[in-house]
Amino acid sequence: MTITIIGTGFVGVVSAAVYASLGNRVIGLDIDQNKINKLKKGQVPFFEADLEELLIEQQKAKRLTFTTSYQEAISQSEIIVIAVGTPSAPDETADLRYVMKSAESLAPYLQKDAIVAIKSTVPPGTLEKLIKKIKKQSKVKFYGASLPEFLREGSAVYDTLHPDRIVIGAQDDFVFKKLDQLYEVFKAPIVHCSVASAQMAKYTANTYLATRITFINEIANLCQKNGADIEEVINAIGLDQRIGQHYWYPGLGYGGSCFPKDVKELAAYSRTVGEEGNLMNKINEINKQRIFDLLIDFEKKVNGFADKKIAVLGLSFKPNTDDMREAPSTKVIPYLISKGASIKSYDPMANYEEFTNEKHKEHQQVANVKQAIKGADAIFLLVEWPKIVNFPFPEFKEKRPQTIFDCRNQLDPDEIKKAGYQYVGIGRS
Ligand code: UGA
Repeated sequence: MTITIIGTGFVGVVSAAVYASLGNRVIGLDIDQNKINKLKKGQVPFFEADLEELLIEQQKAKRLTFTTSYQEAISQSEIIVIAVGTPSAPDETADLRYVMKSAESLAPYLQKDAIVAIKSTVPPGTLEKLIKKIKKQSKVKFYGASLPEFLREGSAVYDTLHPDRIVIGAQDDFVFKKLDQLYEVFKAPIVHCSVASAQMAKYTANTYLATRITFINEIANLCQKNGADIEEVINAIGLDQRIGQHYWYPGLGYGGSCFPKDVKELAAYSRTVGEEGNLMNKINEINKQRIFDLLIDFEKKVNGFADKKIAVLGLSFKPNTDDMREAPSTKVIPYLISKGASIKSYDPMANYEEFTNEKHKEHQQVANVKQAIKGADAIFLLVEWPKIVNFPFPEFKEKRPQTIFDCRNQLDPDEIKKAGYQYVGIGRS
């Protein structure tokens, strides 16, 4: 099959490389000439495990090409997948500008019976608007579909190759049959449903997971008050098969490019359909406030952060990515600096200054954990990168009083305390 993927962001590049690896001819299309030039040279503008290798391999095999020309790409494609960004608009709804712009640009070149599928996360009603827009400029018969994406950053190639399920939202048998042909190779369940259901499934999955994290974070707050240990609680509840032990890790709140945005968007969408004040609105508020409430608590444990030397370990929003969107570090570092601390931070991949464009003289990014914690009064473990959690902290305990804020509950509290550190975890004492 010949497939065009519009948008060479995270989802677009991963999908393009993986679809090509399945034997399809794939054209990655973007209006950003710079990006396309880089991709043609096999350079991925962000870090994602295994992606660059796959991209180069598929280009060499001539299954994957990149272009900025809508005419060149669309005129030869049976399936067009829109994977452009949908940033949050000022009213927190999804900004559909780029989705609609791509519809306008592709319309004149559509071939007969082409399928135009939206992979970007969009609210119900969007595909109908897109189809209307295309019809204004095209007389050929074409089909619309919704193809929500469920991959995670950090394991995107693996997730795309090993999906838990494929969701296809459409109206026509022709679309289901054709997209089944594309996806049957995965041997995963394929869910056929209406377009609105597919779009709701994507928001529901992300909002549910965000709610689950928020819930366990709230329980961790209670454990902190009564001497219970959240990890023991999770172990106990997780044996109930209805609940399970996965995806329950408490922390400073969820981050990344998806959960905060999707929860806000579903909340904003709820308001537009007269469902104000529902759970989605609340989840977003709780998550936003959480990190600051915890920082105030932490401050008390070390008698203030003023003049303290602090190591911040982990800058990205989670391990195995250099993505810093809504990362805890982007809130923790400015907060500590505003309180008069000086910081040495370490991350295996992410770069704080590149992301924030903020150069503080009180913040220095260093090359490893050892350099970051040398002389530190307090250590913030923010991200569970293996290089950070496997570091032998007890061996590096200094004479001064030192506190470890284990914000992902990754360390053994007894071992850390035995080495002489003050240990502060999330929901455990
Ligand atoms: C998330 C979803 O997991 C994907 O299924 C979805 O496709 C993607 O959003 C998207 O919409 O594109 P991602 O943002 O890459 O993927 O990351 P996750 O691994 O799900 O983590 C999200 C946030 O939740 C991170 O800040 C993570 O630290 C936090 N988290 C996760 C917890 O605090 N506790 C947990 O138990 C799990």
